Amino acid sequence: MLNTAIKAARSAGGIINRASLDLDLLKVNTKSPNDFVTEVDHKAEAIIIETLLGAYPGHGILAEESGRVHGAKDSEFVWIIDPLDGTTNFIHGFPVYSVSIALAFRGQVQQAVVYDPTRNDLYYASKGRGAFLNDKRLRVSKRIRLADCLIGTGFPFRKGDNFKRYMQMFEVMSQSCAGLRRPGSAALDLCYVAAGYTDGFFETGLSPWDIAAGSLLVTEAGGLIGNFTGEADYLYQREVLAGNPKVYAQMVPLLAPYSHVITDNTPEAAASAPAAAASDATDAFVATAAAAPPPAPRKPAVRIRKQDIVR
Ligand code: IPD
Ligand code: CA
Ligand code: CA
Repeated sequence: MLNTAIKAARSAGGIINRASLDLDLLKVNTKSPNDFVTEVDHKAEAIIIETLLGAYPGHGILAEESGRVHGAKDSEFVWIIDPLDGTTNFIHGFPVYSVSIALAFRGQVQQAVVYDPTRNDLYYASKGRGAFLNDKRLRVSKRIRLADCLIGTGFPFRKGDNFKRYMQMFEVMSQSCAGLRRPGSAALDLCYVAAGYTDGFFETGLSPWDIAAGSLLVTEAGGLIGNFTGEADYLYQREVLAGNPKVYAQMVPLLAPYSHVITDNTPEAAASAPAAAASDATDAFVATAAAAPPPAPRKPAVRIRKQDIVR
């Protein structure tokens, strides 16, 4: 299954690389303000789906651009696909974007591939078998003090996003770590945690296809991933936090006050609620799709011990 996903990701990467040679020819459509899709996203998605269903016709598909149109609707195996993660970067020729493919079985990610076509870097993982970049085994970083850490993030950019809440998190986090980075492809951001390039990552507003594959890279590299309160149900929660275990434990108490999983009754949240609900339409679809796992128990992804909190 992993080999089929790799084949699909490389084919999509070929399409993306060829198109990157002449970006002036690119036809760009706007899904919503600042949210773009190109013909390359569609072509890459089509070749991925064709490759996966060619090998596994009975499997389900959840893809960013075509939703659940393709594949079996009731399979316990669901491929979660982002054909081009980092479209805004791609359109500008900013070389940070990827192809992300995950296979979930009964809602649990089992196989993951994230392909960076500009560097020909292949990140992959199978549950229980470790995470790799090309042929190198990945381990999360060993840093233990958040103050020494480089942390990845993603900025809100859609109309209706809760910018004020993000700015508060930005202030807290930037004063607590050595530096924040916003590369622009959530799938790669998680691989960078797995590879130890960054020590942690947080973002709001992400969809399952942005993070499904990267999440397995993180856990197979020895890291933790969850929502802002440190619980394991993050895939459909639109807030995600990842890091090496020590750093994760220090980020949870800083970000938990901003979790919408606990509460979202800040004045800012209330002010942006109608628009936010509109931008959640895809999520509502995803959450009700057959691929969506039953709500995971509120199990802490990590038990934070006092000794882990090193400031
Ligand atoms: C985007 C990227 C970006 C994140 C956005 C995503 P897309 O994916 O992952 O890093 O900040 O929220 O939508 O739209 O380029 O596939
Ligand atoms: Ca994406
Ligand atoms: Ca995409």
